[in-house]
Amino acid sequence: MESRVMGLVLVLCAGASALDNGLMRTPPMGWLAWERYRCDIDCDSDPKNCISERLFMAMADRLAEDGWRELGYVYVNVDDCWSSMDRDADGRLQPDPRRFPAGMAALAQYVHQRGLKLGIYADLGTHTCGGYPGTTLDRVQTDAQTFAQWGVDMLKLDGCYSNSTEQEQGYPLMSKALNETGRPIGYSCSWPAYQGGLPPKVNYTQLGEICNLWRNYDDIEDSWSSVLSIIDWFSDNQDVLQPAAGPGRWNDPDMLVLGDFGLSVDQSRSQMALWAIMAAPLFMSNDLRTLSPEARAILQNKAIIAVNQDPLGTQGRRIVKEKSGVEVFWRPLSQGASALVFFSRRTDMPYRYKTTLGQLNYTAGHYQAYDLFSSQSVPSLSESVPFTVSINPSGVVMWYIYPAKLLGEEQDLGGVYPNFRRKYRLRPQNHPQPPPFLL
Ligand code: GLA
Repeated sequence: MESRVMGLVLVLCAGASALDNGLMRTPPMGWLAWERYRCDIDCDSDPKNCISERLFMAMADRLAEDGWRELGYVYVNVDDCWSSMDRDADGRLQPDPRRFPAGMAALAQYVHQRGLKLGIYADLGTHTCGGYPGTTLDRVQTDAQTFAQWGVDMLKLDGCYSNSTEQEQGYPLMSKALNETGRPIGYSCSWPAYQGGLPPKVNYTQLGEICNLWRNYDDIEDSWSSVLSIIDWFSDNQDVLQPAAGPGRWNDPDMLVLGDFGLSVDQSRSQMALWAIMAAPLFMSNDLRTLSPEARAILQNKAIIAVNQDPLGTQGRRIVKEKSGVEVFWRPLSQGASALVFFSRRTDMPYRYKTTLGQLNYTAGHYQAYDLFSSQSVPSLSESVPFTVSINPSGVVMWYIYPAKLLGEEQDLGGVYPNFRRKYRLRPQNHPQPPPFLL
């Protein structure tokens, strides 16, 4: 009897050892090498851009010195092609000695000294997608321990060169192995992306228990068509994806490519706004040394970051999809606030989209709105008052909205100011002043 009880206790403990690392209560933010630097290992002819400790140190410097860290962009993440082609004599992964001569522990230290965190990449399989040594099931524990010893803060575990059975075992196993190191290590799983991203193959409940974030879909590329295809897939499947996200567990539509070569300024704003609405991790993959002022302003927009980082952690949804090419996205935020993104897929001219808050499912009442790109207040709105937003081709208008409260029953200020007859005085319900990030 007693041993049966013990058995039960053990089973319960095993259940509780699911990922419970307290990390990433809001979507993680930082910088990730892959989209911009790929597998450029040619340090002889391209020393500034090749995958080497110099690149990551340079990006850490920029994150720490150019105002990124204070905004929350704290991860400096290594992707594929960092390792040597061989494990060391003890079977441990080791960095390429020419490109990372000081080693990964030294890089982690460099990053930590600047108040930042280091992320690394591995692949559950025989090889990484780029052909470097993989983490087969028998290596999971060793690799988790190696990363912890180096002082790594996050792991992206890719899924090339493994089958679905190995993935089913390996992703939970790595979660457990990371926990057992005792070091808090954020865990990004590419598992669902290798299983088509949708149930029944993908179990989002389980993912939320073992991973902090997960790649659901294709790799992003530096083009508007790539960004659009990601927006499409995530919106078309939002009924499945949206409930899966929450504090500590995020869908990952992949890196921010704005600041690179493929997106116009309006398209860059669209990526930023929609990633904020989707509660997506914000990993920039660009060159922080040469970023344009326009891209920097978009990526450093405090109000949009605050929407992305809202503590409620509820992922937004597409709530309107019009034949005209206009779509509206909505995300509920803490303190009764919300964000709206009006998005145009049109390719002609700025489109004047007319609607009411009532048509966008807002309940009866008065609201205060702010335009997050122009930093302008929008005149007070009630749910039935039509308004018009002008949306640029492949661009967005983004609003932060909160309810305003009637002060009294039909307060008529006409008696006090004879020329100023107004029935209502409006006062914000939850924010006596505009939220601090808007000031
Ligand atoms: C896969 C991943 C990418 C990147 C590459 C590296 O394609 O989805 O994000 O990590 O592998 O080879």
